[in-house]
Formats: sequence, structure tokens, C-alpha cells
Amino acid sequence: MGWMSWNAFGYDLSEEVVLATADTMLRSGLYAAGYTYLCLDDCWQGGRDAVGRLRADPARFAHGIAWLAGQLHTMGLKLGIYTCAGPRTCAGEAGSEGFEELDATTFAEWGIDYVKEDYCDAPPERSAALERYRRMGMALRATGRPIVFAVCEWGKRAPWEWAASVGASQWRTSDDIQDAWGGTGGILEVAERTEPLARWAGPGHWNDPDMLVVGLRGRSRAGAAGTIGCSEAEYRSQLSLWAMLAAPLFASCDLRQADATTLALLTAPAVLAIDQDRLGRPGGRVRRAGPVDVWHRELDGGAQAVAILNRSDDPVSLRVTWPSRHGPAPDVINAWSERPLEGGSELLRLEPHATVLYRSASSGVNPIIGLEPER
Ligand code: GLA
Repeated sequence: MGWMSWNAFGYDLSEEVVLATADTMLRSGLYAAGYTYLCLDDCWQGGRDAVGRLRADPARFAHGIAWLAGQLHTMGLKLGIYTCAGPRTCAGEAGSEGFEELDATTFAEWGIDYVKEDYCDAPPERSAALERYRRMGMALRATGRPIVFAVCEWGKRAPWEWAASVGASQWRTSDDIQDAWGGTGGILEVAERTEPLARWAGPGHWNDPDMLVVGLRGRSRAGAAGTIGCSEAEYRSQLSLWAMLAAPLFASCDLRQADATTLALLTAPAVLAIDQDRLGRPGGRVRRAGPVDVWHRELDGGAQAVAILNRSDDPVSLRVTWPSRHGPAPDVINAWSERPLEGGSELLRLEPHATVLYRSASSGVNPIIGLEPER
């Protein structure tokens, strides 16, 4: 869990932004909720020096990356960085092709804790991608520093089949997420693209459906200019679905300006607990009833999570009943409100694209969902 700079900042990234974001993470409860990585995405670079070592843009990172890592480590936080498997990154900066060992060593010397490697300006074949990522994965491992390795080739060459074998802990499953519900790169499409890949993920090797767009509200690269981004219900749905997918959680809005609603969504304890559940087994869709999808995830200790999603552009009303096998109603809470489900049943009105997320302490009890006519 952490934060990634790309969507909100692009080239407007600087050490001041990172330190102010770190400060917000500590003060706002994000760090206490589990967000620890601050990741510089593309556009931190300032070319290579005379011996070929990467350097940060001195105008925006005056003290250098090693200093920045030191500052974050003192605060109990971790620093991530970005590079690319081609000679140029997606934004046209210096990439790591042919420099894998030197760059891995440089990152380790700087005290980097996480490396995202992109795939722009690189050959399309799967074998080439595998080879390039293996080179970086092995080079990072050879440094002896524990560094999370994140493969970012957008799910184009089935990385779930090979990325763990080259040392990656996570791999993107899709094109870049958009600050939108529908369409390519929208929350629903990315979730549904990732959902069938559950069996490839588990502790230490995760499907990555990309950053959280929660709180962007249209102010980012992730979306067409002039749009207002997602509704609160849609942002809530992204967190609910990412939790069901056991996805890495990287916020990407400008946390320094995040309002109380955004912070409350990002730190919802029972939702994050589902995402980070120790069993590490992603869930998936188990039922479709008209506009409503039901997702199920098995949790540690015999517990389970159930998400009910309204895919349609209209509100739906439904009655959710958790049958009790032995006497009293089962131990079910709404993971957003953390309120118990009184009597094991409730009538819900789900806004368009809204998700209700439950956690049940016992397994083997499936809720019965009855659609009610809209009045
Ligand atoms: C690609 C990646 C994004 C981001 C940008 C930066 O599009 O998929 O996540 O890193 O490059 O240029």
C-alpha cells in the first residue's frame, strides 16, 4: 500500500511534493492505515552522468534521490522509483535497456524499496519482455537489498504466467486506469479484466489492476481533460473491488489536498483488512442477477467477504438476506459502515455503479439476493 505520483503530478513532481505528501500520509491517518510506499513514477529523471549512472533532475530533486530516501526512511516510510525496459520511458526519459545492472545497483545504493519497470519503446514479443524483465529482476536480486519489483507491461503478454518467475511481486493486468467508471481503462473494465486471473495471485505475487483513482475528481492525467472524474459511489466501488481482488493499493490523487471524504474512503479499516487479508486469495464474481453482480472472497480463519455491485446506470433496490443455519443471525458486518447486519437481512437501494461490501465471520453461508421493483 502506498502512493504513486503519475496521475496527479507527471512532470510536476519534486522532492518538495514527495516530502509534503509523506507528511500528509503521517498526519492524515494514511500511514497508520497501512500506506507506506511513496513511489516516484516517470519524470523524476535528469538523464545519465558521464559514467552512465542515472541521475534525478537537479532542478526538482536538488538533494538527490539517496537523500530523499533517507528522509522517508527516517519517517518510517519507503521510497519507490520508476524505470522502463526500453531505452526511453513512456514520457521520453532515460530508460534502463542495457543498463539493468548499473541501474539496479544505483537504486539499491540510493536506498530504493520498490521499482516499477514500464515497457514503452520495447519489442512486442513476449520472449523479449520476459528476457528484459528477467535481467532487471535478477539485477535487483543481486543487490541483496529487498526491493519490490513491479512489472508494468499492461497485461499484454500474460505477465501473470511468468512475472513471478523473474522476481516480480506484482504485475499490471491492464492499460492505464482512467478516472472513470465505464469504457476502456474505466474501473469496471479493469476490475473485470483482472477478475479471471485470481488463480495466478497469492502472497508475494499479485495481480495489479493499477492505481486507485479515488479522490482524483477529474484533476489528473487519468482521464479526458474537463471531466469531473468519478462519483463517490464509484470511488467506493473501486476500493471494494480492489479489496475483493487482493490488489496492491496505491493512491494517486494529490494527498496534500485530499478532503475528509477521500481520506475516509482510503482509510476505511474493514475494507483495507479485506484487501490485506493474510490468506491472500483473491475473490471473484460468483453470480450475475440482471444488473447486479455478486463477488465472493474467502478470507483467513474461515471468514468471507461478499461484494454486491450495481453495474447499471440506474439505481436498483434489493433485499439481501444472510440465512442463519443455527439460530441467531450470522455474524455479518457492512465493511464500509462497520455496522452489524441486524437480523441478517436488509433492504438496500444501490446507486448506479455502487457496491455494498460485507464481511462474514463464518464461511459457507451465502446471502440470498432478491431484486425489488424500483418505485
Ligand atoms: C505508462 C504506465 C503508467 C505510467 C506512465 C508514465 O503509461 O502504464 O502507469 O507509469 O507510463 O509515463
